[in-house]
Amino acid sequence: MITKTLSLDEMDTAAELLRAGELVAFPTETVYGLGGDARSDLAVARIFAAKGRPHFNPLIVHVPDVAVAREFADFDARAEQVAAAFWPGPLTLVLPLRPAGLSELVTAQLDTVAIRVPAHPAALRLLRAFDGPVAAPSANPSGRVSPTRAAHVLQGLAGRIAAVLDGGACAVGVESTIVGLVGAAALLRPGGVTTEALEAMLGPLVTGGSSVKPNAPGQLASHYAPAAALRLGATGVRAGEIGLGFGPRDAGFELTLSRAGDLVEAAANLFHMLREADRLAAGRGIAVAVVPESGLGRAINDRLRRAAAPRG
Ligand code: TXA
Ligand code: MG
Repeated sequence: MITKTLSLDEMDTAAELLRAGELVAFPTETVYGLGGDARSDLAVARIFAAKGRPHFNPLIVHVPDVAVAREFADFDARAEQVAAAFWPGPLTLVLPLRPAGLSELVTAQLDTVAIRVPAHPAALRLLRAFDGPVAAPSANPSGRVSPTRAAHVLQGLAGRIAAVLDGGACAVGVESTIVGLVGAAALLRPGGVTTEALEAMLGPLVTGGSSVKPNAPGQLASHYAPAAALRLGATGVRAGEIGLGFGPRDAGFELTLSRAGDLVEAAANLFHMLREADRLAAGRGIAVAVVPESGLGRAINDRLRRAAAPRG
């Protein structure tokens, strides 16, 4: 695909692309975000594919104001207070998730959600024009530095995303501060709002606790593990198993992650299909076909291995 560079006059085109499930990089006051519809499994899978992320770590949901944020998260008095003080701005709050239709790929099946109201006028206009929650990690390939100009976005992602909305250079240049407000107030990532400013309001912040790194290997505990045992790398379905295939050759499998063998489609289907397989298996086993260990396949296999791991 050819990545379009959109001017700020082309906001409606950007919103239209998001509505179509396409990815649009857009400026925020911190760094450029790689935006996709946070309610669409396919759009969110495309984010992971474009970035080449090896794991489905949870993403930040961007909304235009605190009223919209309250649809997706439970705000206690502390959350209300810091949101009133620092939003719009470079602060992300991790709060209890409300069941309001976010893709499970955004929250990585956690029961919390990271949410923020960005301060960049173009970001706010885009969020209002789109009229929905936008998942947006930094708009760079996984493992590279975050982009603070449209040209940086194109250097890393040209040809992999539909468009970049050019809003010039980002003012803050480092990502948002992430504060967890599920239990004791915790600093999960330092960023654009200082710890001092936050502690003046919240008191001392907990750092380095076990809940603070949901994206670290092994810590992304599944909110949902299938009841049925998973047999990975299956080349066929055995008696008493439900088959979850991948690709056109797996005709003997009842279910498929992607008949076409498309890893983006497979990622988008993954959590739903695991549930569906579990339901049909009714306690019997699930045979999961080989998924290639490349591109999004690495993230898919990571999740499958966790789902298949012996349970305590
Ligand atoms: O400034 C920013 O925050 C930028 C711009 C684009 O808004 N976005 C950004 O997103 O930095 P990303 O995906 O690179 O960072 C997401 C971080 C990850 O470190 C992830 O672990 C954390 O947010 N996170 C997301 N959901 C979480 C949750 N439920 N609990 C704890 N941490 C969470
Ligand atoms: Mg990043």
